[in-house]
Amino acid sequence: MRKKIVAGNWKMNGTYEEGQKLTSEIVNMVKDELKDEVTIVLNPPFVHLQSVKKLIGDSKAIFLGAQNCSDKASGAYTGEISAAMLASFGASYVIIGHSERREYFKESNKELTGKVNQALENGLSPIFCCGEPLEIREQDTHVEYVTQQLTESLFSLSEEQMKKIVIAYEPIWAIGTGKTASSEQAQEMHAAIRQHIGNKYGASVSDDLSILYGGSCKPDNAQELFSKADVDGGLIGGASLKSRDFVDIIKSF
Ligand code: 13P
Repeated sequence: MRKKIVAGNWKMNGTYEEGQKLTSEIVNMVKDELKDEVTIVLNPPFVHLQSVKKLIGDSKAIFLGAQNCSDKASGAYTGEISAAMLASFGASYVIIGHSERREYFKESNKELTGKVNQALENGLSPIFCCGEPLEIREQDTHVEYVTQQLTESLFSLSEEQMKKIVIAYEPIWAIGTGKTASSEQAQEMHAAIRQHIGNKYGASVSDDLSILYGGSCKPDNAQELFSKADVDGGLIGGASLKSRDFVDIIKSF
């Protein structure tokens, strides 16, 4: 049985007070309104990790994640944060290879392998992001583009390591644009991703792989997206900053 996961990516948003307020609201709503059927991950900016973890406490439903980690273990890398540090602050997940990091910080598929390895060595589950830009979608080569991202970054992993990976498919043209992929477009890509991983690692690995959709996922489209066979949850940007919207998305399952 694969996990249903809804993860909130706060990106670079929220002061200390705003982060505390948002987390408290989510923790209370989840306690009052949800059974522990969906794994919820909060991915605040690094500086919030400790205070958010405190509010999550020993929740069985809500887990802590980060938005990035270094591909190096430690050392003279000013401004970087290691996977070991994240784990020591109670993180269980880390987003790796978000399209914003690929675009603005020039993270390559090869560098991402290093980050994935660091995360796994420190007991974190990588939420590995993939997704195509608009011009690739228009050329109808999106499946080849995304499967190549996966091959180049992940296919050196062992079977045991691959079992710890969560994939997030985020078409770049849908991120923050209000233009979500249709549920058919999401399903087509998610099925292709599962098939691709299955070809390399076998069906027992790919059947258990959670594949999340990200890109303008909101309370009014989440149910339709999550109804598809290969969509196992969402990676939520803007709507994860509003507690009511975020919890309503989780309730869409
Ligand atoms: P939006 O939900 O704001 O489109 O962002 C999606 C995303 O990038 C999550 O990582």
